[in-house]
Amino acid sequence: MSVLVTGGAGYIGSHVVRLLQQRGDDVVVVDDLTNGVRERIGDAVLVPADVAADETLPVLESALREHAVDSIIHFAAKKQVGESVQRPAFYWKQNVGGLANVLTAAENCGVGRLVFSSSAATYGAPDVDLVREDGGNSPINPYGETKLVGEWMARAAGRAWGLRSANLRYFNVAGAGWDDLSDTAVLNLVPIVFSALDAGRAPVVFGADYPTPDGTCIRDYVHVLDLAEAHLAALDGLDRGLEHDVFNVGTGTGSSVLEVLAEIRTATGSTVEPELRERRPGDPPKLVADVSRIEQELGWTAKKSLSDIVSSAWRGWRSRG
Ligand code: WQD
Repeated sequence: MSVLVTGGAGYIGSHVVRLLQQRGDDVVVVDDLTNGVRERIGDAVLVPADVAADETLPVLESALREHAVDSIIHFAAKKQVGESVQRPAFYWKQNVGGLANVLTAAENCGVGRLVFSSSAATYGAPDVDLVREDGGNSPINPYGETKLVGEWMARAAGRAWGLRSANLRYFNVAGAGWDDLSDTAVLNLVPIVFSALDAGRAPVVFGADYPTPDGTCIRDYVHVLDLAEAHLAALDGLDRGLEHDVFNVGTGTGSSVLEVLAEIRTATGSTVEPELRERRPGDPPKLVADVSRIEQELGWTAKKSLSDIVSSAWRGWRSRG
């Protein structure tokens, strides 16, 4: 297979690039290196470009033709919820415009397979025990809106010219498959807590009065290597012809903020007590995936535990240069 991976030098993308390389696929990475890191992609070809820029369309098309690409995995996008609320037009331009370029190039070059990074942010704040793909979408921020629109764009390309796509709705991704590919951003719970501990500050818990067993929010934390394997399963599934084009990628098991902090105490040996604060606006009390569709249709299931996630994230965190 010859696969073009946009955003392949990023945290999640680079895990997928490495798995593709390990199984012998040819990989071309398109990444503008704003968050990506060149060293993460090994000897994969790098095309340095902002996927959403107008001038990138011919660049994408020549990369697809030159490397006889047959499949695209599209990660390159902006992913900060708060920033999307502050700068909605920028998010629409980058996330929707970037995918528009990818789809145009794919159509013009006859590339018929796409795996798209979607998000559980498409669901908003559903009041259900386990979130199903067909339970409805009500995104509550521009980030989630752009991901939902992305799914619609891919589906419309399927109807218009036969694109086969799999849209993967990620839940809370954390951990590291290899130390050198660990998450360098301090934007989500696990790295935020590591950063606080390094600085000698107490980790902060946003809200301990939710209607959950210990009062803190529950999320579905999925190991980045499990998530990366789901992309390969999706890519391979596209050849078989799938019944659905949208899949939750999670574990089906929820963990509360306090449970994550307990794992972090075990992994780090820290004894610092967390500070309980006010709720953070916009946080749903519980977001856990129903994973039956991806298990049945793609034969994929998460293998790693919360303890694997936290311990691998901590190893990667300490190995940063
Ligand atoms: C997890 C839990 C916080 C920091 C976001 C996006 C989502 C997806 C993943 C991309 C929450 C709590 C956090 C802290 C805390 N992104 N928390 N103290 O908000 O579930 O999901 O990232 O697709 O779209 O919304 O992730 O890691 O920010 O928070 O108590 O210092 O940890 O309130 O309950 P979230 P998160």
